[in-house]
Amino acid sequence: MAHGSLASLLLLLAASAQGAAAFGGKSATGGRSVVPNSYILQVNASAPALTKRGVSVFEALDHTLAAVKQNGVKYTVRQRFDAIPEAFQAVSIQVEDGASMAELAQIPGVQRVWPVSLIPRPVEPTVSDFTPVSSSSSSTKSKRDTHTLEKRGTNFPPASAYLNDTFYPHVQTGIDVLHNKGILGQGVKIVVVDEGVDYTNPILGGCFGPGCQISFGYDFVGDNYTGTNAPVPDSDPFSSCSNHGTHTTGTVGALANEYGFSGAAPMATIGHYRVISCSGATTDEILVAALTRALQDNVNIVSMSLGSSVGWLDDSPVQIMASYLGSKGIHVVASVGNERNEGLFAADQPAASRIGTGVGGVDPTYLAAYYAYLIKRDPVPYISPTPFNLPNNYLLYFTSTNTSVTNDACNPLPSTTPNLANRVVVVQRGTCGFTVKQQNVAAAGGKIVLIYNSKGSGLIPQLDVGSTGLTAVGSLRYEDGLKLLSYYQSSPRGQSISFPNGPLAPYVSNTVSGGVVASYSNFGPTNELFIYPTLAAPGTDILSTVTGGVALMRGTSMAAPLVAGAYALLLSVGNNLKLSPEEARTILMSTSQPSPVAYGSETLDTVVSQGAGVINMTAAIAAHTVISPAQFNLNDTQYSNNTQTLTLRNNNRFPVSYQLSWVDSTGIVTYNDGATTDIIPSTTPNYVSTSVLRVAFSQRTVTVPGGQTVKVTAQFIPPNLTAQQRNQFPIYSGFVTITGQGQGAGAEQMEKYNLPFFGLGARMVDMPVLDTTNVALGPNLPFIAVGQNIQTGPTTFSESNPAVVYFRLAAGTRRLRVDLVDASTSYNATVPAVTNPASRLVKRSNTELTPRAAFPTLYSQVRTVGSLFAPSYWPPRDYLFNNGGTYSDYEIQLDGSFTFPNGTKGMAELGRSYKVLLRALKITADPTYTSSYESWLSPSFTFTA
Ligand SMILES: *[C@@H]1O[C@H](CO)[C@@H](O)[C@H](O)[C@H]1NC(C)=O
Ligand SMILES: *[C@@H]1O[C@H](CO)[C@@H](O)[C@H](O)[C@H]1NC(C)=O
Ligand SMILES: *[C@@H]1O[C@H](CO)[C@@H](O)[C@H](O)[C@H]1NC(C)=O
Ligand SMILES: *[C@@H]1O[C@H](CO)[C@@H](O)[C@H](O)[C@H]1NC(C)=O
Ligand SMILES: *[C@@H]1O[C@H](CO)[C@@H](O)[C@H](O)[C@H]1NC(C)=O
Repeated sequence: MAHGSLASLLLLLAASAQGAAAFGGKSATGGRSVVPNSYILQVNASAPALTKRGVSVFEALDHTLAAVKQNGVKYTVRQRFDAIPEAFQAVSIQVEDGASMAELAQIPGVQRVWPVSLIPRPVEPTVSDFTPVSSSSSSTKSKRDTHTLEKRGTNFPPASAYLNDTFYPHVQTGIDVLHNKGILGQGVKIVVVDEGVDYTNPILGGCFGPGCQISFGYDFVGDNYTGTNAPVPDSDPFSSCSNHGTHTTGTVGALANEYGFSGAAPMATIGHYRVISCSGATTDEILVAALTRALQDNVNIVSMSLGSSVGWLDDSPVQIMASYLGSKGIHVVASVGNERNEGLFAADQPAASRIGTGVGGVDPTYLAAYYAYLIKRDPVPYISPTPFNLPNNYLLYFTSTNTSVTNDACNPLPSTTPNLANRVVVVQRGTCGFTVKQQNVAAAGGKIVLIYNSKGSGLIPQLDVGSTGLTAVGSLRYEDGLKLLSYYQSSPRGQSISFPNGPLAPYVSNTVSGGVVASYSNFGPTNELFIYPTLAAPGTDILSTVTGGVALMRGTSMAAPLVAGAYALLLSVGNNLKLSPEEARTILMSTSQPSPVAYGSETLDTVVSQGAGVINMTAAIAAHTVISPAQFNLNDTQYSNNTQTLTLRNNNRFPVSYQLSWVDSTGIVTYNDGATTDIIPSTTPNYVSTSVLRVAFSQRTVTVPGGQTVKVTAQFIPPNLTAQQRNQFPIYSGFVTITGQGQGAGAEQMEKYNLPFFGLGARMVDMPVLDTTNVALGPNLPFIAVGQNIQTGPTTFSESNPAVVYFRLAAGTRRLRVDLVDASTSYNATVPAVTNPASRLVKRSNTELTPRAAFPTLYSQVRTVGSLFAPSYWPPRDYLFNNGGTYSDYEIQLDGSFTFPNGTKGMAELGRSYKVLLRALKITADPTYTSSYESWLSPSFTFTA
């Protein structure tokens, strides 16, 4: 019967059987894209089979590989992770078609198995009427010709070049104040893990190696790595084929330059590990290797602007390695992701961490703008990555002087339009895309365009001439558009304007969204209800270096390196290099400034959107009180942790009187219509006013002598919620506020701290795990289908044209099992066997008998024939948008093959009647009981050859 007893069970689209893609999404492995037939095996060096024989940790890996071979699995080794055995002892292997994760997991010495996962390239979030062009570089070549490698060294600007810092991300985060004190990251070693760096950019020092601004690094991938082919590593992290890594590196370490910006820690020792190539993704294997090297290179800080969905803490090889670095005193900082439209509980690795820092993005309070000069008028700032360098005078021209016109320049300009060749054409945003407006002006002979924001619109993005043929395009705030219009209208003989070179215009306020959490920044929390993001920093329209120049880019990718640089500043002061990651994070979190829910609003945004708020390094450096914990994860209504002990240590020489209070932030729901209707978390979750009722402190004021510690108890009284509110899974949150007033002469300085708290007004165990909707695939899930034919009753499947089991996870789960069971199995499944009872296709049968046997109550009592899919990791929730793609789903092929509980391969008997049993553990439930799982028992089927 069997064609090859090792037939693949886990269906990958690339190898899909005929009908398999009928309903298929982008990935057939759930919210995790994987490298086919590739697995990371974590070796348990203390397994009896190995310790009995007195095997060293190093030998254990080889023994395990030998056991893999003994089991008849042919493999090639991809990477060995044995450099730091106590951190993560593992090996990744490539196997032949058909070897399953369940099979590998049974091999003696194997502790856990993960498929090698793809980590997508970071994607810059878009603005509705604008697609950024800056994420890709115009260069197609990448690796430098090593023969031209110069070793001349960087010509470092003096420390005084960083005084008088007005760079807007620094002003927003208090980094400016530190720079003005000469705190520039001296003595701290930091590595950026990204897409490679163009260090030939003079702002990044022009060279690589000792004596250069980018002084160490490595390329783990080479130019052609896509995640699925072989990496070609070398010792040079140079890349010019994309901008992302050069941008993030500049945010940490750009040297003082003519534009008037700099990196956050330009005098730190800065390196770059290239982990993503010119196109395609990378893998968790590469990230683990990079983190291992960070440890060997003795770095203090790792900055990672990349990641992938995990939902959980401590679950993936990258998280395990990142936590190990944390335990060794290394501060790991990572971006939380740009998928806010995935809704709540969208935590990525490596940002989801108990010990590291996950950084969300906020919009800047000030903008990247240069001055345009007008005769006899005040200069007006225009938004652009670089000044136009057009020092001659041009006359202004408005395509419309009526500011209530909403479709300005959306159509070809009228024939009455004057010659635009020597004019600066001003257009209002609205109706059509920016490119259309630019094209219409270009078609009428215009060369220079300024587009001003429309009233009530979001932050206007930076613009690019693209292929419109224009010489220059800049954007203006609404108020500056109006200002130019009034100049224009009050100058009958024309108003001239010029755009000479010069540094950034300081303090150009973002009066639309300054300081508000960015429209793209991921929501937390993790499935354990651990805080996510940790904190936030400006990420939108950030000026930094790119290949051969500078550009504005947006995303949480831009916020993470700013925070990494901020850590370098903190660590470079006094004895702070000794601060543990938790201690340093506590200082940053407790001194962060919470963001409002909207610009100008008094209401604070939810903690699951901003964490502790926007870092304030002025306050962080000045903090003389050490507070722990830095956040209160109050958990859910079942496991509520509402009584918390707060420890305050007064590190001043004098007594300080502390006042404790609290402030609410907005509530937010997971399911707008309630989980019984929604099942899938809402992609635009509703803000609600679900506030904590009260925080009762054991003492509201407490005076602590210098150098002393005090403990205060805080009792959080959660809100009273109706059943309907609980059904929406609301998160309530806020901040405990502590102000300290020094006592005595010379101690008048106030200290102020904010500590975020949040809780879930529902039980995580009630969160729907199996998707039973038709939202993603059309038919209701789960189902089995051959091509378009969905099974609705007893059926015969052919092994040569396999049926496919389709399902999705609406929430993460700590145990997912797809098993083949005998058709007589009695199981009290939570989802009906037939989810699509349409008369279409196979006729529904009434002959399906419900067996009389009692339902097993224990997981272990359920007899299965064998396993079809049994991941040893905790799967995340499936994607809905998948970073611009579509939903993800699971597609498991039913070709008769399975893995016996002992790990050996089996084939279904022809003619015997089977069912598929799908089980997913509810989030906080006890895995030993069958009632802890959401489950689906399929209609019965038999196999024919
Ligand atoms: C600091 O920068 C501001 C704005 O660019 C400028 O007006 C001021 O003169 C500078 N001060 C010093 C001391 O350089
Ligand atoms: C990368 O691919 C290009 C085009 O296929 C090829 O010319 C080049 O040699 C490859 N480089 C490496 C290092 O394999
Ligand atoms: C919340 O409670 C669950 C169940 O006990 C636990 O697994 C989880 O770790 C808790 N979360 C936090 C942040 O303490
Ligand atoms: C940062 O903290 C300092 C010192 O506490 C304070 O003066 C300043 O206003 C804060 N900045 C912001 C942006 O909150
Ligand atoms: C309750 O919270 C405290 C501090 O926030 C934490 O240390 C403790 O582990 C939590 N307890 C449980 C049972 O999760």
